[in-house]
Amino acid sequence: RGFTSVQKAPQPSFPYSEDEYANVEWDGLGFGLIPTDYMYMNKCRGDHQFGEGQLNVYGNIQLSPSAGVLNYGQGVFEGTKAYRKENGQLLLFRPEENAVRMQIGAERMCMPSPSVDQFVDALKQTALANRRWVPPAGKGSLYLRPLLIGTGPVLGVSPAPEYTFLVYASPVANYFKEGSAPLNLYVEEEFDRASRRGTGSVKTISNYAPVLKAQMRAKTRGFSEVLYLDSATKKNVEEVSSCNIFIAKGKRITTPATNGTILAGITRKSVIEIAQDHGYDVEERGIAVDELAEAHEVFCTGTAVGVVPVGTITYGAKRMEYKTGSATICQDLQSTLSGIQMGTLEDNKGWVLQI
Ligand code: COI
Repeated sequence: RGFTSVQKAPQPSFPYSEDEYANVEWDGLGFGLIPTDYMYMNKCRGDHQFGEGQLNVYGNIQLSPSAGVLNYGQGVFEGTKAYRKENGQLLLFRPEENAVRMQIGAERMCMPSPSVDQFVDALKQTALANRRWVPPAGKGSLYLRPLLIGTGPVLGVSPAPEYTFLVYASPVANYFKEGSAPLNLYVEEEFDRASRRGTGSVKTISNYAPVLKAQMRAKTRGFSEVLYLDSATKKNVEEVSSCNIFIAKGKRITTPATNGTILAGITRKSVIEIAQDHGYDVEERGIAVDELAEAHEVFCTGTAVGVVPVGTITYGAKRMEYKTGSATICQDLQSTLSGIQMGTLEDNKGWVLQI
């Protein structure tokens, strides 16, 4: 398996803009796409490994109508964020974790994947080229979206003959329209998110469109998002469409174990470690939906969502309420994690990469 020779696209006109900031209304950023200047692109044949990629001007990409990703959903994605410190330095958070997770997902979806170094380098290039789009310290972050998709043509169900690894970016802040206010979750009993030995544990694009129907229905009824149960028994809590879930009772924090149907969140993993450092007793195991009634606190974690409190969960006719606000476990973990990510707290774990 040698390196493929990839035809280079014309390079954008460097150097990048001298402006410190792009023309963005930084206050009140949400989680909608704000297109930036550049994106990273790298293509390779299915039977090769990725070679060197390059930055292109951000814009539409051309695809064959029979591209594997368009017809059969052969694709995985990642999400990570670049933060700007007060002194202007840019920080990435545990980017190699995303690289490894993409490799695991790619293997499941029969795709070649970039090496950890190639992946991290692509993130660095994309963040630096778009640095004027990184919000001022404390106003949000530059969300980086790596995509790995089958772009070669197929007709029958088979792996695509060509793949594209690309990274684009958008400035973001709060994921939910609630901002950082508590979420109101609805336990979804009709639809499942993931099945045993399916793809629930990998970040394949095909896990996300199927959640839209339940999500839309819940939003119409005034809920923030849905909470899924396990498909086999409908008795255990799994995750929310876009994030992992934790429950807390006293000093004990519990989150569903990653048993194949749960996405192995990097925020989830980081929050577990911080919680242990802070003296909480952390368990990863199945959580019976009935346990929701006894929890003192519930919170969600994810790269896009951060660490957000859950105020209520509605399960059938039952509506459960949780402690939120100051002096909560959620707030303790949220402030430590975001402090490390934004460079305002010392990173003694080697999680932050200054670029
Ligand atoms: C992320 O948290 O970065 C994700 O990729 C979740 C996405 C569905 C918004």
